[in-house]
Amino acid sequence: MANRQDSHHHAHIVGWGMAVPDHVLTNGELTALVDTSDEWIRQRTGIAERHIAAEGETTSNLSLRAAQAALEVADLDPSHLDLIIVATVTPDHIFPATACLVQDALGAKKAAAFDLSAGCSGFVYSLSLAADLLAADRYRNALVIGAETLSRITDWTDRSTCVLFGDGAGAVVLQASYASGGILSSVLGADGSGGDLLILPAGGSAHPATAETVSNRQHFIQMQGQQVFRFATRIIAEASRQVLDQAGLKVEDVSLFVPHQANDRIIQAAARALGVSEDRVFSNLEHYGNTSAASIPIALCEAIEQGKVKRDDLIVCAGFGAGLTWAATAIRWSLPLPVPAPSRRMTVWRWLHYRWARYRSWWRRLWRKIDAHLFQILYDQDGRRKRRGRDV
Ligand code: COA
Repeated sequence: MANRQDSHHHAHIVGWGMAVPDHVLTNGELTALVDTSDEWIRQRTGIAERHIAAEGETTSNLSLRAAQAALEVADLDPSHLDLIIVATVTPDHIFPATACLVQDALGAKKAAAFDLSAGCSGFVYSLSLAADLLAADRYRNALVIGAETLSRITDWTDRSTCVLFGDGAGAVVLQASYASGGILSSVLGADGSGGDLLILPAGGSAHPATAETVSNRQHFIQMQGQQVFRFATRIIAEASRQVLDQAGLKVEDVSLFVPHQANDRIIQAAARALGVSEDRVFSNLEHYGNTSAASIPIALCEAIEQGKVKRDDLIVCAGFGAGLTWAATAIRWSLPLPVPAPSRRMTVWRWLHYRWARYRSWWRRLWRKIDAHLFQILYDQDGRRKRRGRDV
């Protein structure tokens, strides 16, 4: 039971939040860009519309909004976060990590922060990693985000890929507690021999950006759809079964199956192979398309919002994606729902904290410049303190 005490720590989801861009691109609107139809997209994928980031809207913006919503549900002071992981294949920059931008904007001053790249499996990879660190008593509070602006790497002239993807972010706050339940088990896997099936060919060390890579459209997603499809239908069921085995549970115990939202036909085939009935499978693909690492946390948020999650439910999340990678996790939901509204005092505190974080960031940038000037005045080129008339 969720509130039974154990002698060691377990990681529990205590907050969740999502953010998607306001702009919605419908299938109908896509027909103006490529030779496709609403009917084909709905029939072959189940997607009707997706959210697309506006100019200036980035993976870190969306992550921040989702994170703030998750911290609100958890009613947690951002400065109590110990760890921030952003799972993404569309970071703001190759470096610094998007997680560091989020850490700065949240004013999470004691948190370690890094990005994790495992394609659409990235969120479950990150959740599993964070949960293990919490269970090992390394950290108490972790923020795990899945966030993407896939529209920035989508080839809007390629009908076989551009109809599939969307932008968004989802986040959860994980907290260590002696209460049993929470993240029960995880399965992570990879098969790099399939790396070329879903790839952003250029922009890395293999093919740095040149005029040629740009004109060859190598900075956009390239995918062998049918091969990914076959891999996905097999691996989701396999990984889900393994994760249940590890937790000593059976498919019949699953209350809700939250698979990666890539294609309704993949979701249905995987559910059939696993033997989970349709009413226990969550899908919101119709409104978001495939948001890669963001798809599972967004789906989880919506499942909770729609009252599909109850205390003590067993939830299985399973993803697959570029790498090739796959990941599944079994979660015993331990929080009574709905959660009480956060305390007004803490909401005001967080509001003030975020404003302070902006000031802190500005001040630290300014101080770095002042420091550089002072350094030039006080030290020589070798970093030795200047003394009037002589060096030390
Ligand atoms: N509109 C209309 N026709 C399209 C089209 C589109 N957007 N995209 C492809 N087609 C055409 C193809 O050109 C092909 O035409 P042809 O028979 O004249 O050559 C036909 O539709 C069938 O193409 P095919 O690739 O066999 O379609 P499919 O049923 O495999 O569906 C995907 C394509 C991409 C939807 C499907 O393979 C898929 O979802 N794969 C998995 C992708 C995925 O999940 N990626 C993310 C992993 S995280």
